[in-house]
Amino acid sequence: MLCGKGLVAGYLGAPVLHEVSIEVRPGEVFCLLGANGAGKSTTARCLAGVLGLRGGQVMIDDVDVTEASANERVRRGLSLVPEARHLFGRSTVRDNVLLGGWTRSRSERSASYGRVMETFPQLGRLLRRKARDLSGGEQQMVAIARALMADPRYLILDEPSLGLAPIYVDIILQKAAELATLGVGVLLIEQNVGKALSVGHRGAVLETGRVVLSGSADELASDPAVVDSYLGGVV
Ligand SMILES: Nc1ncnc2c1ncn2[C@@H]1O[C@H](COP(=O)(O)OP(=O)(O)O)[C@@H](O)[C@H]1O
Ligand SMILES: [Mg+2]
Repeated sequence: MLCGKGLVAGYLGAPVLHEVSIEVRPGEVFCLLGANGAGKSTTARCLAGVLGLRGGQVMIDDVDVTEASANERVRRGLSLVPEARHLFGRSTVRDNVLLGGWTRSRSERSASYGRVMETFPQLGRLLRRKARDLSGGEQQMVAIARALMADPRYLILDEPSLGLAPIYVDIILQKAAELATLGVGVLLIEQNVGKALSVGHRGAVLETGRVVLSGSADELASDPAVVDSYLGGVV
């Protein structure tokens, strides 16, 4: 499992996360929900090791990685696709994807590349294009493909559907579900709460840096508080 236990973290000043605990199991899509500013991205950054903790612990499959760097966590099987994607706009799609395999040997890299291209056949015809010339949805696929090059057992997707055309929202969320069926534990951060819960297995709702609700996707989708706040008040 990917575990954050009692995470306390923030930026300057008071903490933003107040003892957030979260567990993502292999083979599931775990939806992390909550309003803007609730602390979802901060939680993602703490798990991935790009933001330090003031308290708490991060475990990857029973190994304590609290003190491990972000790179070390990638090697241990945890990849983050950040909200802003961070592609190299002037590089080709192929080079952007290959970059994700930098931690691995040449043979592992070529095996991963083959698998990733099977997962995203849509990228096949775009390989020579510059990342900056792609649509938002295509760029998001490149970002996820790049993360998959490290062959992660846990993948954090921070608002992968933000700003995408509806057709890509569905494609991306389906991919998240597909990766879970392959055994990957996916932490899916989404504003598209209804759609996220429709592909998710379990989830939690963050409110001002605290987990206020958690349960199965079905429980969350029928919870009055979730329905009122995120599903437009209609079940
Ligand atoms: N880089 C940063 N520096 C300072 N404050 C930040 C930074 N990123 C986020 N915050 C603050 O932390 C809180 C949680 O933000 P964030 O984790 O990005 O929320 P979410 O992803 O749920 O929208 C917000 O109050 C936000 O203003
Ligand atoms: Mg965010």
